[in-house]
Amino acid sequence: MSITIAVANQKGGTGKSTTAHALGTVLADRGRHVLLVDFDPQSSLTDNTGTEIAEGSLTVYDALAQARALGEIADLAPYVRALDERLDLLPADIGLGQAEMELQSAVRREYVLQQALDSAAGIYDVVLIDCAPSLGLLTINALTAATDVIIPVSPEYPAVRGLRLILDSLQTIRRTRLNPRLAARGVILTMVDGRTTHGRTMVQTVKDGLGTVPLLGEVKRAVAVSEAAERGLSIVRYAPQSETAQAYARIADDLLADWGLNAVAGVVDSTPCDHVRVEVADGTH
Ligand SMILES: Nc1ncnc2c1ncn2[C@@H]1O[C@H](COP(=O)(O)OP(=O)(O)OP(=O)(O)O)[C@@H](O)[C@H]1O
Ligand SMILES: [Mg+2]
Repeated sequence: MSITIAVANQKGGTGKSTTAHALGTVLADRGRHVLLVDFDPQSSLTDNTGTEIAEGSLTVYDALAQARALGEIADLAPYVRALDERLDLLPADIGLGQAEMELQSAVRREYVLQQALDSAAGIYDVVLIDCAPSLGLLTINALTAATDVIIPVSPEYPAVRGLRLILDSLQTIRRTRLNPRLAARGVILTMVDGRTTHGRTMVQTVKDGLGTVPLLGEVKRAVAVSEAAERGLSIVRYAPQSETAQAYARIADDLLADWGLNAVAGVVDSTPCDHVRVEVADGTH
């Protein structure tokens, strides 16, 4: 069984890239073979993993071009970089912005990423797609290729309205039959600041606005997150004992349990965590 998760929110700076990197790292630590796909022309995920894109080296842009030309990619290996034993990255650079325009004229233009990732199902247990902060054709491609969507939300003023927008978009993707089985796996509250009354009020406001969408967990704001990114590391590597890293580890463990994928025997976890089951509501699929 292969799971493809789009990490999406059209609002900028909600922790999508940080979340994709952290969850991917933990899932790989738990013995799963994971592919991170940077699907944002800003290429934060590529930068945050410390990956250099040399002139002429292959990126997700080239994978899309190949999928358009041939309808599929038989072997993704030339396009991906190994970050860790079981963690690969399909990187991006600014050139991906051009793909958004080029895709407009493509045949079955919403399905090009799905075609590009077709062979990934035979290799990876989990594919995590880090989406751009927009609901343009790139993000629609990601939502069409995905089995699940995780929505990082930072608890600040317009968060609830933004959440409604992305949930409406998922509904549209399902209704238009682009991806009828797309599941809203849940929301992760990111950059939570529980120290101020305002911070606590905003968290409550977002929780009240969730409706039937599951809350997968809360991740505290921590300076170590940007320190980690500067060093090309995920927070779960840079500060594994921090509350922020542990929250991501718990969310990843809950996802594995939810999918019926337990940690692979014999694999040593480098992200220790006390396993706490987060309540996952039903009825959003
Ligand atoms: N838990 C956290 N604590 C502190 N800073 C964080 C946390 N999570 C993310 N950040 C920082 O917030 C900024 C935005 O995070 P990130 O790049 O993950 O968001 P994004 O949703 O991917 O942004 P974009 O919409 O631009 O792609 C980054 O500088 C990141 O280091
Ligand atoms: Mg990002």
